[in-house]
Amino acid sequence: MSQQEGYADDVVKGFIASSILWGAVAVLVGVLISFQLVFPQLNLPPYLTYGRLRPIHTNAGIFGFGIGSFMAFFFYIVQRLTKTRLWSPGLAKFQLWLFNVVIVLAAVTLAMGFTRSKEYAELEWPVALLVVILWVIFSANVIMTIIKRKEEQMYISLWYIMATLVGVAVLYLVNNAGIPVSLFKSYSAYAGANDANVQWWYGHNAVAMVLTTPPLAIFYYYLPKATGVPIYSHRMGIIAFWSLIFMYLWTGAHHLLWTPVPDWVQTLAMAFSVMLIAPSWGAVFNGYFSMNGQWHQMRENYLVKFLVFGITFYGLQTLQGPSQAVRTFSAFIHYTDWVPGHVHMGTMGWVSLTLFAAIYYTIPRLYGREIYSIGLANLHFWLAVIGQLIFSISMWVAGVQQATMLHATNSDGSLHYSFMETFIELYPYWHIRAVGGVIYLISVLVFVYNIVKTITSGEPAQSAVKA
Ligand code: HEM
Ligand code: HEM
Repeated sequence: MSQQEGYADDVVKGFIASSILWGAVAVLVGVLISFQLVFPQLNLPPYLTYGRLRPIHTNAGIFGFGIGSFMAFFFYIVQRLTKTRLWSPGLAKFQLWLFNVVIVLAAVTLAMGFTRSKEYAELEWPVALLVVILWVIFSANVIMTIIKRKEEQMYISLWYIMATLVGVAVLYLVNNAGIPVSLFKSYSAYAGANDANVQWWYGHNAVAMVLTTPPLAIFYYYLPKATGVPIYSHRMGIIAFWSLIFMYLWTGAHHLLWTPVPDWVQTLAMAFSVMLIAPSWGAVFNGYFSMNGQWHQMRENYLVKFLVFGITFYGLQTLQGPSQAVRTFSAFIHYTDWVPGHVHMGTMGWVSLTLFAAIYYTIPRLYGREIYSIGLANLHFWLAVIGQLIFSISMWVAGVQQATMLHATNSDGSLHYSFMETFIELYPYWHIRAVGGVIYLISVLVFVYNIVKTITSGEPAQSAVKA
């Protein structure tokens, strides 16, 4: 069934456009803050300082780019997998409008310094309330479409989509519980170690329910579409899904190792984090085995390259993450630049590459045009991978050096290096990271140009690209 036959695709176009816009903003601000770390004079108080721009970067990246694309692709995928028109296109249009209002409000309030000071949950209560409304109407629309579905079988992507909807709702409501004292100030409902525990239960499950389950839903849908062969094992996908969902929710306290949070809670988080390797790699193997006999497509099909590199970064990420969750390793790398290295292999590698592939696949089908330039798509791919690797590797090396210096002691037990001495050694790495960021930014500009040209002047599509 194509757009003409009844799918509500206008709203998909709107969400893709919004997510590209916010993604570009996120990357631009990311580059700016990485330069601010090396050239402090680039901080322009009060609004354009590192402290205010950093949460704008993370919110624009995770919520503007990430959630914006997920809204687009959930609507696109769900309609096709259920062979059912969206339950309420009108509600979806309202959601698109509200989504952009919320992102603008988030950027403005964060720039003005209104924050709850909880990472990834910074937005003050009036904006957070709008987020709740946004999520409720989004979930209602998707779940109602699934309930009314004409296709009985529930493909693996639908499970990941439903988990995202329920998971984010529970996490957001619990962690945002608070007491407002004025229009832009509220206090958390929890205190002390409990507050930290709830916050990182939320924080790590933002990784689970925003940076893992939605891209996996998208990966499972688009890999077979791109290669033209089915996924290797649906059953393996379902088993990996349920184990992933069961295990993730226990792992948040791995952000709080060596803190006043009870020891058993830390041990539990550590154990479940290590166990997470299995379901995570269930998806990675499913992806790799689906490529059996199709590896030549890595040369011939740019979409496959994005997706296979994406799932490979996911695989590396889910080996690195569990090792960081082990107490002894955590004692070494926690509070160092190693962690932003980990984060950006996930965000710039796994999540972004998967979303780029999905956008490249979907835009020509929505607009009935061929992609403007496969050459530019390949250029985008290589610049993105190189930029991301420069970023992550420089941060891992910086993190190891930083950790080694912070832990060095003299024979009498005093610290060998002062904090400033350690800090100064990080400067060269921060320069390198900024260069990696600029390369990645160029890749994003190439991508945006290619997409805009596809929409405005791409060749009319062959019949294979329609539908
Ligand atoms: C050119 C691309 C990017 C650059 C230059 C960049 C730069 C940065 C910098 C400098 C930081 C602060 C690191 C620190 O605390 O020391 C940061 C943090 C962060 N960025 Fe990016 N970023 C980029 C892309 C992205 C994207 C696309 C996303 C999400 C989709 C993202 C998500 C995050 C997150 C979640 C953090 C917080 C990490 C933590 O607390 O450890 N970034 N980024
Ligand atoms: C098996 C899966 C994973 C495990 C067990 C894991 C584990 C960890 C641990 C232990 C930390 C804390 C590091 C520290 O501060 O000492 C961390 C940070 C982080 N991880 Fe992972 N990770 C996993 C997968 C992922 C994936 C797929 C992403 C996707 C982008 C991701 C994104 C992040 C982010 C954004 C942070 C920084 C949080 C912050 O401090 O602001 N992780 N991870």
